[in-house]
Amino acid sequence: MPIHPPEPFRIKMVEPIELITKEERREAIKHAGYNLFGLKAEDVFIDLLTDSGTGAMSQEQWSALMVGDESYAGSRSYHRLAETVSKIFGFNHFVPTHQGRAAENILCSILLKEKQSVPSNTHFDTTDANIRARKANPVNLVIDEAYDPGVKHPFKGNMDLEKLDNFISQTGAENIPFGMLTITNNAGGGQPVSMENIRLVSKIYRDNKIPFFIDACRYAENTYFIKLRESGFEDRSTLDIAREIFSHADGATMSAKKDAHVNIGGFLAMNDHQLYQNAGNELILREGFLTYGGLAGRDLDAIAVGLQEGLDEKYLSYRLNQTAYLAEKLFEKGIPILRPAGGHAVYVDAKSFFPQIPQSEYPAHALCVELYIEGGIRTIEIGSVMFAHIDPATGETVYPQLELVRLAIPRRVYTQSHLDYVVDVFSKITGRKDNIKGLKITYAPELLRHFTARFEPL
Ligand SMILES: Cc1ncc(COP(=O)(O)O)c(C=O)c1O
Repeated sequence: MPIHPPEPFRIKMVEPIELITKEERREAIKHAGYNLFGLKAEDVFIDLLTDSGTGAMSQEQWSALMVGDESYAGSRSYHRLAETVSKIFGFNHFVPTHQGRAAENILCSILLKEKQSVPSNTHFDTTDANIRARKANPVNLVIDEAYDPGVKHPFKGNMDLEKLDNFISQTGAENIPFGMLTITNNAGGGQPVSMENIRLVSKIYRDNKIPFFIDACRYAENTYFIKLRESGFEDRSTLDIAREIFSHADGATMSAKKDAHVNIGGFLAMNDHQLYQNAGNELILREGFLTYGGLAGRDLDAIAVGLQEGLDEKYLSYRLNQTAYLAEKLFEKGIPILRPAGGHAVYVDAKSFFPQIPQSEYPAHALCVELYIEGGIRTIEIGSVMFAHIDPATGETVYPQLELVRLAIPRRVYTQSHLDYVVDVFSKITGRKDNIKGLKITYAPELLRHFTARFEPL
């Protein structure tokens, strides 16, 4: 029986949530075009849509907001953040951005040209789209184990080194302006990447003179997985492990909305001075001046505190155990989940849950809709709605290998009874799952369609 770890905090402020009736939920989701992004948040009971920007800030972060310096240039808040970023990440330069995708956009706009390629273990949706938006190719080279939900592997987010080597030889390093690695690997189940893999990926990129950028959103969770699972790291601090991770890279994109425990913010960090100057020019054009990048001074202070709290080992132990608790409870009930549990989320394998629904009818999305109707739970599809695309060479639709429903757990927000409720809702759906049908898309934009697409049940 999995043990739920007691929360290493107590609750000082509460936000009421309400479960509206099933009839009201049916109406609400229909009105939203069967897209969970279209729901009013107040019509959601347990919101597992994302762990991004949805966490609870600590009393130290709220206090930090009060000392925020709102000077346009050179604020104390910026310098406090710069000190923390330098302590944890160790890069020579960074620019604050309003969130992670803004950092990706700047990186792509200064380095990437049409038809070039950017390899990673798995690009997340915004990175994938930022690359495609420049008519370039995002390439996913994660190890094969990542595609088998049942295979247990301690570092299922690892890059396949042979695939990376072959890809670079075939494509030519001159057509790869930078390479990436996402830690933890969100689109592949929130799975960690080992230090050994990070080192070897770095070596391959460096041998080929390809700048190496880490998508660092969940670097702290990845750091704790390394401490728990990789030999030689058990006695090292998470800060020390983080510093080693980033010493292997040339830069990082960061959404602070995850492991920096804030509701908004991010940054782009790098060692190269010329790149910093180019990034700075782009930042000033689109985001804001070098020392605030589209954020308020108080946000920079909250990020500085949150980055350090994110590495707290007692918190990380609770965090990873909370996710594992939900995963094991669902597994005990026979729900097919991706194992082992990821850091920030549990991923349900919708292909196995609904074998009767083909990928062209969006099985994972169908499960998201059922979870809302049955229990007011909001989740997100990470499958064909998010990642299927037309191959420009053949005109055929290419489907992703995994059809997942992600139950992302906001940081320091939900308790054990909320998670037990989620498990109960799954049990209810299981009883009638063979009769559930898929959906068809009635409207979708070309890029990032999952945010605004509309559907009809079949
Ligand atoms: C791995 C990964 N990269 C990048 C992003 C984009 O960050 P943001 O939502 O702050 O733009 C996300 C957001 O969920 C993510 O999970």
